Formats: sequence, structure tokens, C-alpha cells
Amino acid sequence: MLDFTQVRTVLAECYDLAPSPKLVASMQDIYQKMNRVVPPSDWAIYAPFVKAIIELKKKRNAVILGHNYMTPEIFHGVSDFVGDSLQLAMKATEVEADVIVQAGVHFMAETSKILSPEKTVLMPDMNAGCSLAESITAEGIEEMRAKYPGAPVVSYVNTTAEVKAASDICCTSANAVQIVDAMEGDTVIMTPDQYLAQNVARLTRKKVVFWPGSCIVHELYTVEDLHAYRTHDPEVKIIAHPECTPEVVAEADYTGSTSGILNWIQANKPARAMLVTECSMASNIADELPDVEFAKPCNMCPYMKKVTLENILYVLHTMENQVEVEQQVAQKARLSVNRMIELSRKLGL
Ligand code: 13P
Ligand code: SF4
Repeated sequence: MLDFTQVRTVLAECYDLAPSPKLVASMQDIYQKMNRVVPPSDWAIYAPFVKAIIELKKKRNAVILGHNYMTPEIFHGVSDFVGDSLQLAMKATEVEADVIVQAGVHFMAETSKILSPEKTVLMPDMNAGCSLAESITAEGIEEMRAKYPGAPVVSYVNTTAEVKAASDICCTSANAVQIVDAMEGDTVIMTPDQYLAQNVARLTRKKVVFWPGSCIVHELYTVEDLHAYRTHDPEVKIIAHPECTPEVVAEADYTGSTSGILNWIQANKPARAMLVTECSMASNIADELPDVEFAKPCNMCPYMKKVTLENILYVLHTMENQVEVEQQVAQKARLSVNRMIELSRKLGL
């Protein structure tokens, strides 16, 4: 784990990180992408970090892959590519950089390393985990196989490399229904998200059996929360992520991956929308869609929020926190992830 005092000492010695009106004035083009949600006083603090990270990326031939749940100063300020889990996994295979900084959680960095073993993959904070990834081990997959002999195992990308290696194929929230549909046989094992599995089960003819994991962010939303918003504003469009419970999803006007949510909002431009997902999602699209008013029931992912400008700059500076995946595990996990990517590309997802 990074020592916070050491991080600050090293950065203060090597970079000029003092707020400066001149610097703020010279970085207006970047600030404009987030000025509806980031106050000028905060931007004055962020700007020197953003500048230092942009310069260091060039020096290291590095790219930053930013998940849709990153805070706006990371999402708009320093990310080279942004997107949902599927898009970031695909991007990891395409980028020509020597170094990938994963502005997201650990399973995403592992996926990048699995797909690009020759690249250096850096995690700003190694403790940026995920309640879903922590809910199952490779032994859990074997338990499910013993219970449902012959049924294929579809594991969400929100899993460790060992779990991916023990599975037949991966899926993300953007392709889960299509991946399950494409499996042979009548029964499909889905791990580790019980709610994603139940939401998929409603949309496929396969029998879906599942592991009892859940996302600590999305499981907090209740139908009562949604009813309260609708009572207050019957016209509000409710947009949910499929990690929410089936009851919440049934109440929503649209359900999709984080990029699916963005596309839906861009295409439909509702006057008011409630995003039933992680807080930063609405912040990151607010400037692009000034006519949409976002209700923000704010459930924050404590893992995603471990990533900061400060630890991004530190790992790029020191090249610490390199993500490694044992070769044999990586080989097997790559098969599961590549099967998903190939199928997704074939289906035009
Ligand atoms: P997406 O694949 O939709 O980006 O979701 C990842 C995630 O962790 C959501 O909680
Ligand atoms: Fe994991 Fe949920 Fe956080 Fe996504 S929002 S990383 S599923 S804990």
C-alpha cells in the first residue's frame, strides 16, 4: 500500500503543484469539459496535477484508461480513453503505449494485463477492489460446476484473474444477455452477480443459475427510492445499471451498462433523468448535456474513489504498483476474456 506521507513528499520534491492563476488560465480548454460540476476553486488545485500527469504520460509513452465512474477531473482531465468495462478491455488490446494506467478498479487492470502482457499496467491504488470480485474464488466456480454438471460458466469481468481462468467465458453488463444466449445447453451458470444474473434471466430463454454476490453500490437502491422520485416528478426518466435488483430494474425506463446509459441519455435527451448508478456517472456527462437536469441519488463506489490525481501522478512518476498476473493463470483467463471480445465484435456490440 502506498504511504500517503511519502507520496506527498516525493511529489512536492519533484513537481510544482502550487495553484496558479496563470496555469488555470492556460488550461481553460480542459476545464470547460467539467465546469458545470467542478467549482473554480477545486480546479485551481487540480490543474497543476493535470498538467504534470499530461507531461509525464508523454515521457513514459503511457495512456490512461478511465472508467465512467472516475471523478470528472480524472475522466475529463487526464484520461486518454473513457468507457465501460467492455470498451476499456477492448481498448487495452488496441493502444500502442508501453504503459497503461488503469483509472478504475483492480480487476480492470488485471484484464488489461491479461490482454497485453507485454505492457506495464499500473494501478494508482492496489486497494481499489470490488465487492463482486471479492465475493467468489476459483473454488466457488468448481462448486457451481459440481452442482450443475455440464453447464457453461459465464463470469462477469468483475472477477479476479483466477476466477476468469476457471470460467468458460466472461461477460460485461453490455453483452451479458447475448453471451448467455450464445452458450450451448439449456442451463448457464452466471457468477458472481446474483442481480445481473436475474436481470439476464428475464431476457433469455436459458435457465440461469447464479452465485450470490452483489455490488455494494447498486444493491442499495430500492423500489421505494424510485417511487419517491416518480411521485415527486412523474416525468423523470429512470435509468438503471443491471447490477441493481430486478425490482429496481423493472421500475426503470432503461437499463444498461455505464456506456449504454450514456448513449441512451444522448439519444433521448430527457428533460430530467435519474441515474440509478454510481455518482460520478451523472457528473461526467453533465457538461455535454446542459439541457438535461440530473437527479443525483448519490451512491458512491468506495473502491473507484480510491483513484485520485495524486496517486495517478505518483505511480507514473515511480512506476510502482505494477499489476502482474501469473503466466498460467493469465493464459487461461485470456481465453475467457478473448472469447467474450470475439463474440461481442461478431455481434457488433
Ligand atoms: P460497466 O461495465 O457497465 O462499466 O460496469 C462496471 C462496474 O463496475 C459497474 O459497477
Ligand atoms: Fe464493484 Fe460495484 Fe464498485 Fe462497480 S460499483 S467496482 S461493481 S463495487
